[in-house]
Amino acid sequence: MTDDRQPELQRRIEALERKNKLLEEGLHQAERLRQMFDRTAQELKAAQSQLQRQGAGLEEKVRERTQQLLAAQEELVRTEKLALLGQIADTVGHELRNPLGVINNAVYFLQAVLVDADDTTREYLGIIKDEIADAERIVSDLLDAVRTKPPRPERVLVAALIGKALDKCNVPPSVTVRLDIPETLPAIRVDPAQMHQVLWNLITNGVEAMPDGGALEIGAAEDRVTKTVTVSIRDSGSGIKPEHQARLFQPMFTTKARRIGLGLVVVKNLTQANGGSVEVESEPGRGSTFSVSLPCDITVAA
Ligand SMILES: Nc1ncnc2c1ncn2[C@@H]1O[C@H](COP(=O)(O)OP(=O)(O)O)[C@@H](O)[C@H]1O
Ligand SMILES: [Mg+2]
Repeated sequence: MTDDRQPELQRRIEALERKNKLLEEGLHQAERLRQMFDRTAQELKAAQSQLQRQGAGLEEKVRERTQQLLAAQEELVRTEKLALLGQIADTVGHELRNPLGVINNAVYFLQAVLVDADDTTREYLGIIKDEIADAERIVSDLLDAVRTKPPRPERVLVAALIGKALDKCNVPPSVTVRLDIPETLPAIRVDPAQMHQVLWNLITNGVEAMPDGGALEIGAAEDRVTKTVTVSIRDSGSGIKPEHQARLFQPMFTTKARRIGLGLVVVKNLTQANGGSVEVESEPGRGSTFSVSLPCDITVAA
């Protein structure tokens, strides 16, 4: 009996072994396929992230280029407007300056001889004087904006420039002025009168942006790599709307009544003429910072 079953059992064992082998081969193949899928999935992932990176790079490039084009267009409009303004300024500006000077002298004379005049007369003389000063400033802005005289650079201390500009600005008591000018700050090489005008305009704008008072912070810092000193004038005022920021340095952009919007044109022209640059950062409702970078004085004393 046992002997009869032997070949049968042998056959079954062999059949089982064959099936086992087939199964093992199948398993191996499945493992190879799984590895292949894994590799392909990884390759796909890598290709996808490379595409994403390239896409982001392209977007960044388009953004950069658009920004450059917009800036170039702004500059073109600015130059065209300045050229047009130049023609008007030369005639009107000069023609107005003379009569304004005459009226100013006359008021000065009247104030001198009418020391005993009544309050109303003196008040009116004061009003005329203030208005003449306003008109003279507009004419000066107009002439300065269109014709930048070649600078006469000198070795100048930033602290002295800022002190003088603050003196001339009549900052109201509601505005607290904070100065942060390191004693070790190197001197700069600029035309002092032109830089006075730049600082005067920026401080005045800062003060005007804070009709209810606030803080005016004036700081200066040296950049040893670029050999520049950056003067920053920060106010806690109204801030500048994003849609206005690109137009700030355009001639005749103003949001104020009875102004012609040339202060920042003068700031930009004079700063550039002195080898510097101006930047603005502003947050509506929180204030603005205007930063002027100027070349350090690197002349060696003899
Ligand atoms: N510090 C500032 N805060 C808020 N707005 C400002 C500031 N400086 C300039 N501006 C805006 O820029 C405009 C143009 O300034 P500017 O060229 O000096 O001309 P103006 O002061 O005569 O209006 C201002 O009317 C104002 O809207
Ligand atoms: Mg101004």
